[in-house]
Amino acid sequence: MNEARRHDDANERGSAQNHGASVGLSFDKITIRGGIPLVGRIELKGAKNLVTKAMVAALLGETPSVLKDVPNISDVRIVRGLLEVHGVKVTEGDEPGDLILDPVNVESAHFAAIDAHAGSSRIPILFCGPLLHRLGEAFIPDLGGCRIGDRPIDFHLEVLRKFGAVVEKQPNGIRMSAPNGLKGAKLELPYPSVGATEQVLLTAVRADGITELKGAAIEPEIMDLINILQKMGAIITVDTDRVIRIEGVERLTGYHHRALFDRNEAASWAAAALATNGDIFVGGARQPEMLTFLNVFRKVGGAFDICDDGIRFYHPGGDLKPVIIETDVHPGFMTDWQQPLVIALTKAHGTSIVHETVYEQRFGFVDALVDMGATIQIHKECLGGHPCRFGQRNFNHSAVITGPTKLHGADIVVPDLRGGFSHLIAALSADGTSTVSNVGIISRGYENFIGKLRLLGADFDLEG
Ligand code: EPZ
Repeated sequence: MNEARRHDDANERGSAQNHGASVGLSFDKITIRGGIPLVGRIELKGAKNLVTKAMVAALLGETPSVLKDVPNISDVRIVRGLLEVHGVKVTEGDEPGDLILDPVNVESAHFAAIDAHAGSSRIPILFCGPLLHRLGEAFIPDLGGCRIGDRPIDFHLEVLRKFGAVVEKQPNGIRMSAPNGLKGAKLELPYPSVGATEQVLLTAVRADGITELKGAAIEPEIMDLINILQKMGAIITVDTDRVIRIEGVERLTGYHHRALFDRNEAASWAAAALATNGDIFVGGARQPEMLTFLNVFRKVGGAFDICDDGIRFYHPGGDLKPVIIETDVHPGFMTDWQQPLVIALTKAHGTSIVHETVYEQRFGFVDALVDMGATIQIHKECLGGHPCRFGQRNFNHSAVITGPTKLHGADIVVPDLRGGFSHLIAALSADGTSTVSNVGIISRGYENFIGKLRLLGADFDLEG
């Protein structure tokens, strides 16, 4: 590899390093008196990891879009802000959760207005294709997101270059242009990245000619983004073996769409029900997108009833059982599900293994659990399953959880979004009082989690 290329790669990695913990709450600390089973019903809205991308897709239309079931979370507020600085008019609709996105007057934004969003989220990288189509140029601020690994954007930049984009690294972000327009390309991802697949979709739909993407991610949120793009006029075929074909079209219109439910939030509340000996009906949760989670939930000793309007998750009594889990891309066990479930595994009778194969550093949250009395060891080796790409690279990516252990209250600090929810569950299921700080991060992905905890009977106080 030559020096220039090495420098380039370092920048592509470096640009993903600036992390921001966005908030939006008037408090940052919760004191929880644990040991109370969570019981009751909560309602889900749309998936954070679809809604934020659907909002970006609205940029591609020539007419306004209507997105329904948009959760009030800070990641949505960040994307809304970035759309607004580019001239998109965003208003609430008649029903709670309705968002109307009018892209008719899209315009270039001032650097300062874009830079105000630096370090807040990873979604801005998905503005590239739509802005290049609409304006011929794009400036993307430094990205944020959870600290769960290096999280480079090299796949994104590589595919954009293949579409014909000119990518220029600048001290505070990335400037892009498309002097000859964007043209369909033959692409292959080295790993089925969710974000890079979305990057290809959002760029290819209006590129000139046909794009073929091999090695695509096929998460349900991506399929729902494809549903939205098809409503807008795009022509997209999903073939077998992770191949997606897109025929570029000249014009797209706005869409009207109810977002897919948030299966990560559903799994989080399911894990909370199990760990607290509780019983939670998660309104809006559906079986097909959660098949893999439901299998593991049952193996651990949890029970569920699938209904037309949601799923009831509960602890049916008896001992919880250990499991061996390997996180993976869809249709595997999602990486976002492991952190909440680990709390139930500290209560299982025996030794569980969680092999994290998607992110190399997603066990930062376990230190606090060990302080609370859990027995968890983290290993660099690939344990419990197949070797993964992190095994040879010295990353602490396998966890061995030995139970049952009783968790006791402690003062803990939320490290990232899913780890933060897992800390809440730990505190809710522990004996005694815990103080959980830095909870603002949780509002990035969980709408009104405080109101939901209240509804489910949790005993807590909030502090500024
Ligand atoms: C999305 O992240 C989600 N985020 C994540 O949810 C989710 O955990 C992840 O997909 C996997 O399902 C959003 O949708 C906003 P990736 P994304 O690209 O798209 C490597 C949550 O808590 N990679 O599929 O950023 C990367 O480092 C979050 O809601 C490259 O090497 O994930 C990782 O190891 C956290 N180069 C792997 O691919 C690249 O250019 C998968 O990442 C891109 C990715």
